[in-house]
Amino acid sequence: MNPVNAFQSTFGQPPLIATSAPGRVNLIGEHTDYNGGAVLPAALQRRIEVALSRNDSGQVAIKSSRFDDTVHRPVGDPKRGDWTDYAVGAIDKAAQLEWLTGGVNVYIESDVPDGAGGSASAALITAILRAAAIIGQVATTPVDIAKHARAVENDYIGMPCGIMDQMAVGLADFGKALALDTRDLSYDVIDIPKEWEFAVFHSGVRRELADGRYKARFEECQAASQALGTSHLSRLDQDQVRAMADLPENLRKRTRHVMTEHKRTVEASAAMKANDLDRFASLMNESHRSYSQDFEASTPVIDDLVNDALNIGAKGARLTGGGFGGCIVTLIEANRIEDFAAELLDRHENAWRV
Ligand code: GLA
Repeated sequence: MNPVNAFQSTFGQPPLIATSAPGRVNLIGEHTDYNGGAVLPAALQRRIEVALSRNDSGQVAIKSSRFDDTVHRPVGDPKRGDWTDYAVGAIDKAAQLEWLTGGVNVYIESDVPDGAGGSASAALITAILRAAAIIGQVATTPVDIAKHARAVENDYIGMPCGIMDQMAVGLADFGKALALDTRDLSYDVIDIPKEWEFAVFHSGVRRELADGRYKARFEECQAASQALGTSHLSRLDQDQVRAMADLPENLRKRTRHVMTEHKRTVEASAAMKANDLDRFASLMNESHRSYSQDFEASTPVIDDLVNDALNIGAKGARLTGGGFGGCIVTLIEANRIEDFAAELLDRHENAWRV
């Protein structure tokens, strides 16, 4: 059912507004987004759609097509540790901004998998904030919405993420990649060449189990930034590079990853614009090595999947997203994708194509 009809049958009246946002996959540029570096995410074909109305009850009534029950929570309810937090956190932010006050009915339809590294949370928060801005008749921009959406994750959910996911789901459409410089939020939307196929495979290991480890890496980067006297660990000057020698080994390795990853990402954006698939793919492969060896964010299951993908014909393959499970992204010529995917899934029974 489409979300407008589903809203009507759940709440007994039509919604005021329906909005949507896609999931995202990061092609290259991992953990650079809170270190002032470059990222290159792309939109997934899968989307989250929301239909929404005011209800003036002081409550958020949330219904998802995936669950039977409608959940009721007060506006401003503190986080309670389940998926409805993303909706309540977004409504809370909209209320603080005075975009939408008094209570809300919201219906959610999604084919972005949860806990799979497809940024379902960023897409849901973004779609709700967009709806709230339209209802509140506020002049806003996708960049403003992305900043507010990130604040919901950082402040309400307590996930210290950067701004990549919120910018990607707010600014990229399917078939496009977003070359984003997180230092100043300047960006360029790039058409992915038609002959390139990025296929995403879930490893079967859920990512949400890993949020504590994401935070640990974030804190290591903060410690390294502090020791080197920078707020942009991805972009060190000569003196700071020399000073890396005095860092403890773990911080030196994390720094090396975010620095080299930034450079690879800038180069990868240029390779995509120049339709240079081989160069792009080899940067993806270097990125995986760095993410695995220097950032130490991969797992044996992921490394196996990446190696097999390369062995059976992917040009590039790497762990994508926050790390410690979740998905790999592979690059292959478009006409070879179906056979390749079938063979990879045949070898990895817990994996599935996103
Ligand atoms: C998660 C975070 C992003 C980014 C990536 C790693 O997806 O939400 O902000 O840090 O991990 O690149």
